[in-house]
Amino acid sequence: NLTVSDPLRHVDSMSLIPYGAGKIDHLNAVVLGEALASEDNDLVVPSEEFSRQALVPSIEKYLEMYRRSVEDPAGFWSEIASEFYWKKKWGEQVVTENLDVKKGTVKIEWFKSGVTNICYNSLDRNIEAGNGDKIALYWEGNDLGQDGALTYTELLAKVCQLSNYLKDVGVAKGDAVIIYLPMLMELPIAMLACARIGAVHSVVFAGFSADSLAQRIIDCKPKAVITCNAVRRGPKVINLKDIVDAALIQSSNEGISVGVCLTYENELVMKREATKWKTGRDIWWQDTVPKYPKTCEVEWVDAEDPLFLLYTSGSTGKPKGVLHTTGGYMIYTATTFKYAFDYKPSDIYWCTADCGWITGHSYVTYGPLLNGASVVVFEGAPNHPDSGRCWDIVDKYKVTIFYTAPTLVRSLMRDGNEFVTRYSRKSLRVLGSVGEPINPSAWRWFYNVVGDSGCPISDTWWQTETGGFMITPLPGTWPQKPGSATLPFFGIQPAVVDEKGIEIEGECSGYLCVKKSWPGAFRTLYGDHERYETTYFKTFSGFYFSGDGCSRDKDGYYWLTGRVDDVINVSGHRIGTAEVESALVSHPQCAEAAVVGVEHEVKGQGIYAFVTLVEGVPYSEELRKSLILMVRKQIGAFAAPDKIHWAPGLPKTRSGKIMRRILRKIASRQLDELGDTSTLADPGVVDQLIALSDS
Ligand code: PRX
Repeated sequence: NLTVSDPLRHVDSMSLIPYGAGKIDHLNAVVLGEALASEDNDLVVPSEEFSRQALVPSIEKYLEMYRRSVEDPAGFWSEIASEFYWKKKWGEQVVTENLDVKKGTVKIEWFKSGVTNICYNSLDRNIEAGNGDKIALYWEGNDLGQDGALTYTELLAKVCQLSNYLKDVGVAKGDAVIIYLPMLMELPIAMLACARIGAVHSVVFAGFSADSLAQRIIDCKPKAVITCNAVRRGPKVINLKDIVDAALIQSSNEGISVGVCLTYENELVMKREATKWKTGRDIWWQDTVPKYPKTCEVEWVDAEDPLFLLYTSGSTGKPKGVLHTTGGYMIYTATTFKYAFDYKPSDIYWCTADCGWITGHSYVTYGPLLNGASVVVFEGAPNHPDSGRCWDIVDKYKVTIFYTAPTLVRSLMRDGNEFVTRYSRKSLRVLGSVGEPINPSAWRWFYNVVGDSGCPISDTWWQTETGGFMITPLPGTWPQKPGSATLPFFGIQPAVVDEKGIEIEGECSGYLCVKKSWPGAFRTLYGDHERYETTYFKTFSGFYFSGDGCSRDKDGYYWLTGRVDDVINVSGHRIGTAEVESALVSHPQCAEAAVVGVEHEVKGQGIYAFVTLVEGVPYSEELRKSLILMVRKQIGAFAAPDKIHWAPGLPKTRSGKIMRRILRKIASRQLDELGDTSTLADPGVVDQLIALSDS
C-alpha cells in the first residue's frame, strides 16, 4: 500500500526489506563491521548493533516519518520547530509556497510571523539547558601544537562582544557584513555575532581574489568588512589584508565605500607591524572587541528575515547571491544534521569544509551548534605536515563523526594506507561525503580503510541553494550502495524529469528536480528575483530544478551524475565556465575562450580552456602562464585552468554558437565520439584542434 508520497514507490524488487544481519539473502551484500566491502559487493547493510542504537532504527520507521513529512509538512516541521526557542510563535499558515511560475511569482515562506534568533538557539538555549561548560569549538591550527577550545559559555561571551562592537559602529538589523576570514574560531564567531543582531552575513571564501571580493562588496554594500591580516596555508603565507585593501579600493571606485574594516591579528602568522593600515577605517580586533561587554541582547527577527547571503557560481558570469532566511533554515539544518549523522550528545564532530562555502555554514556552524555539538574547526591543510594529519586530528580530539569531500578522500587514497593505519581512529562511528558524486572505489577506500569497515558513510547530496541535505543515507536505517546518495530526507520529494519536464517514474535517468518546498530552501537571489525564477523554476515548470542529472535504480536509490549546466565542479567547488571565460578574454591578447570540465583523478573535474588569440599574436609558454594568472587574479587560485589549449578557431554552428559538446570530447580525448560535425560553419577546425591537442 505505497502511496504517491512514498519514496519507495519506484521500487519493484524491494530487495532491501527485510534486511539486517542474518536476514538478508542478497548475494552481494556485506554487513557493516563484518567484512571489507569489495568490488563484488553492491550493498552494505547496517549491523543490528548499529541499527539498534540509531535515531531511525529501521526503514519502516523512516517510511512512517517520511510519509508524515510529505503528507502533513506543516505538522511535521512545526513539531520539530517547537523544540527551539521562539519569542513569538509562527502564524496559522506554517508554509506558504508557489513554485509554479505560471501561477505567479515564486514564493517560499516557512514559519512566517514567528519571531526567533538563530544565535540564541545555537548558544543561549544550549547554555540554559545546562551545557554551558561543554566544548562548542575545538580549534586546530595549521601547525602541530597550535590549538584552542571554547565552551558554549565562552563562545557566547566572544560572540556578544563582537555583536556589541558591530552595533557600536552602526551595524543594524538588515545591514550586510562581509566576512573574509580563514578557519579561525573568529569566523563562526563573526557569523553568530551578525546573526545575534539581525545583520546579514556574507562570508567570502578567503581563497577568492581581490576582484571577486570587490564584486561581492559592490553587490551587497556591506556596512563593515571583517578579516585578518594573514594566513598560512601549508608552508605559504598569504596576506589577506592586502587583498581586502585592493578590493576596498576597487569598490570605492564604483561608489561603494565601506567605513569599517575590522582586522584580526593572526599573530602566529604575521605581526601587525607588517600590515598596511588605513587609519580611521581599519581597526585591530584585539584592541577593541575584548573591551565590549560579554552579554548582548538578542535582536529578535521574523522567521523570514534574511540570515545570510552566500555567492555561488551559475552558468552566466555574474555570481549569484543566494539568500537564506532565518526560521526555516534553522529548523532544517538542525534536523538534517541530527538525522543524517545519527547525532548523539556524546559525539565529537569534524567537518573539513571551510565556512566560505555552504557546507561550512550549515554543517560547521549552524547545524551542529543548534544541536549543542562539540565541533572541530581546522585551519590548516589536510596534508600538512603530511598526509596523516586528518587522522592525527581524529585521534587527538576523539572525533566520532567525520565529514569531508570526495576530492580529499581520493587524494589521501593516492598517498597510501600507511598514513591512515598509523593512527587508531577507534573513535570514528559515522563518515560523511559532500560536494560531488563519490566514485565507488573512493567510497570503498573511505569505508574499508578510514572507517575500518565499521562506519556508515552519509553521502549527502545538496546545494548552496537547498540550505541542507536533500538526498542522504541515514546511518543504520537502510543499506548503502557505494556511490549512491540513496533516499530523500524527510520532506523532500525528488522528481526525475525528461527534457520536456515530464516526471518519469521507476527506474530511470533524467534531470533532478524537487516538488514542493522544504524549510531550508533559499528564498531568492539577492536583488534579482527574476533570475531566481528563470534559473531554477522556469526550466521545468512546477519544479525546482537543481541543475544536476541523476538516475534512480530499481530499489529507488538515487545516483547523482553531475551538473548538466555550464558549471564545473572542481574539488567540490562550483565554478561557472562563463566566469573563467570572462577572466580569460579580459586578457588583452585573448580573443575568445571556451571552457569545459574534464575528468580529473583527484579533483573530480579539472578546468580545460580553449583560447583563440588576437590576430597575429603567437602562442607561447609565457602567454599560457599569463592567461592562468588572469584567472587567479579575477577569481582565485582554485579556479586556475589545468590546461590551456590554443585554438586557431573554435567549432561553431552557422549561427555562431560554440559547440561545447565537441570541445568536451576533444578535451577528454574521446575522439571517436565526436558525433556529427557536418553542421559546423567550418568543420576543418575540429581536425586543427585535435592536431594541436598536445601542444
Ligand atoms: O552537482 C552537485 C554537487 O555539488 C553541487 C552543489 O554545489 P554547491 O552549491 O557548491 O554545494 C556544495 C556542497 C553542498 C550540486 O549541484 N554535489 C554536492 N553534493 C553532492 C553532489 N553531487 C553528488 N553527490 C553529492 N553528495
